[in-house]
Amino acid sequence: MNAPHRVDPVDVHAVAKPAEALFRSTFGGTADGVWAAPGRVNLIGEHVDYAGGLVLPFALPYMTVVAVRVREDGILHAVSTHTDESWRGSLADVAPGHPAGWAAYVAGVVWALHRSGHVSAGIGFDVAVHSTVPVGSGLSSSAALECAFALAVADLAGLPTDAAGRQPLVAASIRAENEIAGASTGGMDQSVAMFARPGHALLLDCRDGATRHVPLDFESAGARLVVIDTNAPHRLVDGQYGNRRATIEKACADLGVTTLRDVVDADAAVAALSSPAAARTRHVLTEIRRVTEVARLLDRGRIADVGDALTRSHASLRDDYEVSSVELDAAVDAALEAGAWGARMTGGGFGGSAIALVPADRVDAVVEGVVHRAASASLPTPQFLSAEPSGSAHRL
Ligand code: GLA
Repeated sequence: MNAPHRVDPVDVHAVAKPAEALFRSTFGGTADGVWAAPGRVNLIGEHVDYAGGLVLPFALPYMTVVAVRVREDGILHAVSTHTDESWRGSLADVAPGHPAGWAAYVAGVVWALHRSGHVSAGIGFDVAVHSTVPVGSGLSSSAALECAFALAVADLAGLPTDAAGRQPLVAASIRAENEIAGASTGGMDQSVAMFARPGHALLLDCRDGATRHVPLDFESAGARLVVIDTNAPHRLVDGQYGNRRATIEKACADLGVTTLRDVVDADAAVAALSSPAAARTRHVLTEIRRVTEVARLLDRGRIADVGDALTRSHASLRDDYEVSSVELDAAVDAALEAGAWGARMTGGGFGGSAIALVPADRVDAVVEGVVHRAASASLPTPQFLSAEPSGSAHRL
């Protein structure tokens, strides 16, 4: 890849150092421990998690680290290397919209774990955050923060953190984001941050929460997955995401099903709805089928063959779901023209990142093609991240 546009992952212990240093300079002494959780890309299964669908994300080697110490006075004091905006307040006062900003993801986790009976009132925390997950790039920096901190709280409160113990932590992280931060996201990001496995994608059934790890070894297939951060800011709290979710919920009510996953005859369902609900529903129903198709191909080790489904997913998100953007379409088109096997936007859309599945010997050509296309359309200069399927949240 072209060095100037590339963001290399950093070893987790190196990521921990700035968090520990900020902890010492802000609070004095040392933290009780340091925890990390990864950002993610979604290989396929976009805008279907809140419809009871199937998703196939994997964890990135970029992560958020929290250095945490328990306090006994019910106060949360959270600071970050990324902003001067810190938060110090009583956890008893946490409520929808309070705190605002990034601290909602931290405070909301304790609030949710208290509501679910997992931690007692009166517990408090000093927290210092550092992250290598690009913020606002659609790579789930917020879920990484929630999950790193949720695992820290669980460890410090003596809760189990095995696979079963992680379920309530995922639920608390989702509630923090939905109810305190006010972003009505669907839960895929928190699940992959907690359950990812190196060298695998996570096939998550959002109807019943079942998971299966699907082998994903790009290297041995002569492939690379290039993450293209368009550098066009993406926001999930600005109405459009919630609007799509509301449309799907209304379509379910009109069709008399609990989730779109329960639709038996896809064509009849789409025909019964009016515009734009019909197109939105068509996206969800076809996307769920594409996830099954891709998972089957990966089970047979046919990585190069999933490219076509990725590109069809992008067309559906662009035309039927209308969540793409000029920058994402330009990145996808340029990657395909430069020899990618497939490409699509990833995450919530409206800016953020795209992925391209590329034969190893075409990576430089794809990077150059995407950069060139952005420049000639006067779009922000994209940056490129590496995408080795990585592990889940853990204590360092
Ligand atoms: C965001 C949300 C997820 C999911 C994706 C779209 O990343 O956080 O829950 O809905 O958008 O697939």
